[in-house]
Amino acid sequence: MSEGPPLRTPVCALLGCRYPVVSAGMGGVARAELVVAVVNAGGYGLLGMVRESPELIAKEIAAVRERSDRPFGVNLIPYGTDPALLAEELAACYAARVHSLCFFWEVRPDLIRQAKAAGCKVLYQVGRLRDAIAAEAAGADVVICQGVEAGGHVHGSVSSLVLLPQVASALRIPVLGSGGFATGSGLVAALALGAQGIHCGTAFLATDESFAHDFHKRRVVEAGSEETVQSDVFTINWPARSPVRTLENSITRAYHDRLWGHGPDDFARDVIGHEEQRPIYRFSTDSPLRNMTGDFEVMPAFAGQTCGLIEDVCSAGERLERIIREAETVLARLAA
Ligand SMILES: Cc1cc2nc3c(=O)[nH]c(=O)nc-3n(C[C@H](O)[C@H](O)[C@H](O)COP(=O)(O)O)c2cc1C
Repeated sequence: MSEGPPLRTPVCALLGCRYPVVSAGMGGVARAELVVAVVNAGGYGLLGMVRESPELIAKEIAAVRERSDRPFGVNLIPYGTDPALLAEELAACYAARVHSLCFFWEVRPDLIRQAKAAGCKVLYQVGRLRDAIAAEAAGADVVICQGVEAGGHVHGSVSSLVLLPQVASALRIPVLGSGGFATGSGLVAALALGAQGIHCGTAFLATDESFAHDFHKRRVVEAGSEETVQSDVFTINWPARSPVRTLENSITRAYHDRLWGHGPDDFARDVIGHEEQRPIYRFSTDSPLRNMTGDFEVMPAFAGQTCGLIEDVCSAGERLERIIREAETVLARLAA
């Protein structure tokens, strides 16, 4: 794989990676093992630490550092986290002097300023043009522009094809495309739309190193793009009415005409599984992880429409290499 332009965009220098490909900080799924694999292959990795304890955050950061000296970041979601826990999570990140923090959902200028003052770079994932502008104005270093085809929680309603060029042309800071990107042709398309790289979740979920349960990985490989559904029925752990894209399952089929308008107080706590000792409830946002037992079919299998582009589970290094090789082939074909 070459290191030459145009795949080596300025955001690579900012993040300290070889390739402009970032693995998303997927809650539960993106732990040290995945981040190590991505950064050692030349990408930039984010630990998905939403609502995790400060102890686990410190442990995962240390676990990455034991196996790599490359930079990486930590993803947190202020909107979905109790403020006292969020303060502890941030303190753990600052104490460990993490290279970057990646925030998602509504823009919190106070947190951007705080993270910058603590010496962290700030990546902000947004789903709306006005939020992208607000994140830049508040001092973010990179905006991740999330299209509606993205997997997991989805903040906006516009596709990457339409939103990304608007965000890229409105901002001076680097923009990464998120949602719809899992291949080399997707990376080239993102560059054509004005992005400096891509941020991928589903593509890195379906890898050997992700902490998702094999059940979830297999479902992503088997699913076609039309098998994802947006709803807010998976709501326990999150504020009411937070849209999330998952693969269809018996719950989304049962709620096919009632997919919207739900909140965590609408459902009884019905235990469907366990993460070690912690109970997992039906209608919660907990996706099936390696360390869980229970009825995986009714848990939310977060996935973007990119699931239709994922044909196997491979190592994260292999996934990244395929993206870069294909992007180089596409660029050579376009130049010919
Ligand atoms: C399993 C899964 C978990 C996710 N968890 C988070 C999270 O904790 N924090 C976050 O900012 N985004 C999260 N996302 C959304 C990603 O940041 C990103 O927007 C999305 O993966 C992009 O679409 P793609 O999956 O098609 O690549 C998650 C996505 C998936 C698939």
